[in-house]
Amino acid sequence: MTKIEKIVLSYSGGLDTSIIIKWLQETYGCEVVTFTADLGQGEELEPARTKAKMSGVKDIRIVDLREEFVRDFVFPMLRANALYEGQYLLGSSIARPLIAKHLVAIAREVGADAVAHGATGKGNDQVRFELAVNALDPSLKVIAPWRQWNIRSRMQLLEYAEKHHIPVPSDKRGEAPFSIDANLLHTSTEGKILENPAEVAPDHVYQRTVDPVDAPDTPEIITIGFERGDPVSVNGKSMTPAALLTELNGLGGQHGVGRLDLVENRFIGMKSRGIYETPGGTILLAAHRGIESITLDRAAAHLKDEIMPRYAELIYNGFWFAPEREMLQALIDQSQAFVSGEVTLRLYKGSASVISRASPCLLYSADLVTFEESAIAFDHHDAEGFIRLNGLRLRSWAARNGR
Ligand code: ARG
Repeated sequence: MTKIEKIVLSYSGGLDTSIIIKWLQETYGCEVVTFTADLGQGEELEPARTKAKMSGVKDIRIVDLREEFVRDFVFPMLRANALYEGQYLLGSSIARPLIAKHLVAIAREVGADAVAHGATGKGNDQVRFELAVNALDPSLKVIAPWRQWNIRSRMQLLEYAEKHHIPVPSDKRGEAPFSIDANLLHTSTEGKILENPAEVAPDHVYQRTVDPVDAPDTPEIITIGFERGDPVSVNGKSMTPAALLTELNGLGGQHGVGRLDLVENRFIGMKSRGIYETPGGTILLAAHRGIESITLDRAAAHLKDEIMPRYAELIYNGFWFAPEREMLQALIDQSQAFVSGEVTLRLYKGSASVISRASPCLLYSADLVTFEESAIAFDHHDAEGFIRLNGLRLRSWAARNGR
């Protein structure tokens, strides 16, 4: 085994990474520095400090990354209307490059030669962490204990924890918890009963949204302001990116917006089933499409829609810091120069529907489209020639086919 001098661990404070601290110390006999990112997971992070301290960690970093997360990762992604496999808003995928970026920065600062993470060998997250580290600092080694140790199941993990006096958390019902990943954009829940896609997800997996059936009978009307493709205000009140997403999570959650029960294709090759809750993100996607609908040129909008699945797949697969993602981002960002204005939506029993939009940079022209008489010159005869020429090849084709 190569000699490692110092390791920076991406530490959530949860069971897996608490065990990993111990395992790294035992296996490599070197100093472990912990880094815990506050991404708005809604958990107290001070317990992470206490636990790390108890494990003998001297250098403990807890960093509030909420604004950076939303401003530099979530919003750029939203400009693309990114969805993986048509449905997934990429809440976990988009957080990994940010965590990796800070892991690398801390590693450089403290002179560590390796970084470590608690992602398993079956998931996407290991790929995302490590591709990002490769792209940001190729000299750093990456340690992935889940791929190295001989713990093979959650059962064995619990036994290891017991042996080393590491406290094992359980959920409210006293059971082992689901595998949960939460941040300001979403909560993702996997594992246990959810591993059978034929089973209906029990109600207690949902954490930040009410069941639409139980949502208020009165709809809520909200207005979101956009500037150059990014949301900047809610109901006329300007907000920072993280504050805005937090506000929309609250509003959406109350109305049961943004639940998704999905079977997806992991990069590594298997299918997996997860429950996602993305209330604010779901509202923002609808609102962003709403503002684009009146401000983007048709060909620009359609080109964005063509590249979107590719862009989403790059993020899902962990290629945030890859040249092709940056190239697509430049295209997307350029398209947003006039995507400004306001969108009003109705939140009601699980839905977020656009009900009106307005912009100082309109491409929409009521005068042009109107069924009534209009001041704008539009010669209806032009449409006749337009159709005749578009139909030219269809007439030749049909004649040849003997229709
Ligand atoms: N399947 C999702 C993704 O790859 C979420 C992964 C993390 N979630 C979890 N519950 N461990 O983006």
